[in-house]
Amino acid sequence: MTFLPGPEHVAIIMDGNGRWAARRGLKRTEGHKAGAKPVRTILTAAKKSGVKYLTLYAFSSENWGRPEDEVKGLFELLLQYLQSELAELMEKGVRLLAIGETEALPELTREALSAAMELTAGNTDLTLTVALSYGSRFELARAARLLAAEAVAGKISPEAITPEALSGKLWTTGTPDPDLLIRTGGDLRLSNFLLWQCAYAELYFTPTLWPDFGEEDFAAALASFQQRERRFGLSE
Ligand code: IPE
Ligand code: IPE
Ligand code: MG
Repeated sequence: MTFLPGPEHVAIIMDGNGRWAARRGLKRTEGHKAGAKPVRTILTAAKKSGVKYLTLYAFSSENWGRPEDEVKGLFELLLQYLQSELAELMEKGVRLLAIGETEALPELTREALSAAMELTAGNTDLTLTVALSYGSRFELARAARLLAAEAVAGKISPEAITPEALSGKLWTTGTPDPDLLIRTGGDLRLSNFLLWQCAYAELYFTPTLWPDFGEEDFAAALASFQQRERRFGLSE
């Protein structure tokens, strides 16, 4: 039997919290609250499966357009998550990273995030990256701006602006590209998530709403990944 390696990096668009709540006659915020449990479950399952990088899309640049109380509720939940899970992250050897315009987050959330990142910086078992106020187009424009500034200052030549140089200016620099991208909630789109980084990711879409996504669903996604033949543009 040939051994098929599992994905090293799994990225997840955690979608469907609002619909999960609506189906129960609850407020959207209740759906977001219910979305904390699968984060815990999937983190454990990922570690067990040998996944080294897990990237979770928690809040997009576009999500700022949602009602103020929903946005506020989401950041309060994130703050609670950071406070209640920190010990567990340490115990599991998880390093926490954040990508996105984190400067835009409420101060308390930002402080808790920096503290958690600092405390977990030396952990090496798994890297958990949370995408917060994240948008791929903004990230790419920002990278282009940084490189353009270096070129104008005469530090680099325009010819030095290669795909590698651009990758080096993304928030994700230092993390390998995702091997597998999962989206829950049934929609078949990327919603401005890791557009550059997912150039060769295998895509997996499931109708399961994020609060219902469990270990078995995650295992099914990994099993699907293992049946794929990745060619990266080559003929065999
Ligand atoms: C995903 O769930 C969480 C965030 C975008 C913050 P949604 O809130 O988008 O849930 P649906 O898609 O409306 O069901
Ligand atoms: C994507 O979900 C963002 C997150 C899961 C954080 P959305 O619910 O915002 O995406 P659209 O609006 O359906 O494309
Ligand atoms: Mg949604």
